[in-house]
Amino acid sequence: LVAALGHRSIVLVGIMGCGKSTVGKRLAHRLGLEFVDADTEIERAANMSVAEIFAEHGEPYFRSGEERVIARLLREGPQVLATGGGAFMSEATRAEIAELGLSIWLKVDFDTVMARVRRRSTRPLLQNPDPEGTMRKLMADREPVYAKAALTVTSKDVPHEAVVDQIVATLA
Ligand code: S3P
Repeated sequence: LVAALGHRSIVLVGIMGCGKSTVGKRLAHRLGLEFVDADTEIERAANMSVAEIFAEHGEPYFRSGEERVIARLLREGPQVLATGGGAFMSEATRAEIAELGLSIWLKVDFDTVMARVRRRSTRPLLQNPDPEGTMRKLMADREPVYAKAALTVTSKDVPHEAVVDQIVATLA
């Protein structure tokens, strides 16, 4: 499987809280690949947190940085790359991923992601009076785009390790 990837990276996409970082780390470990998190790389490059970038420079600035960082990371493959939940909305990024990666959508239901993002609430898009409404709208708007990923792995309230198993089985 890893040999078949060549230089292509496994790229995890999906909504905030779907498990991209946790599943990505474990998947990388299982496959003997490096793990890289796009948001962490953006924070490193900007020397600021994602929340600070949104607050000080706005979302469009974050999005262009996100495109550049993902394009760079894809050239360093093969690795397992976790993207931020909005990254796959960029047509340019989708084209880069199609060329240099294998995209996998971690499809998770609303209740599961809400339970997770409530526990970790630093995400700028959810810092408003109606995070549930925002999440419903984001999921409705984005799911048709996430569905363009090469593979979809659907899970509902299962441990991350089970999702890793599912991915490994799908790729085998
Ligand atoms: C975002 C998701 C976040 C982060 C930023 C914007 C989004 O990443 O990139 O807050 O647009 O869905 P996670 O999906 O890792 O939370």
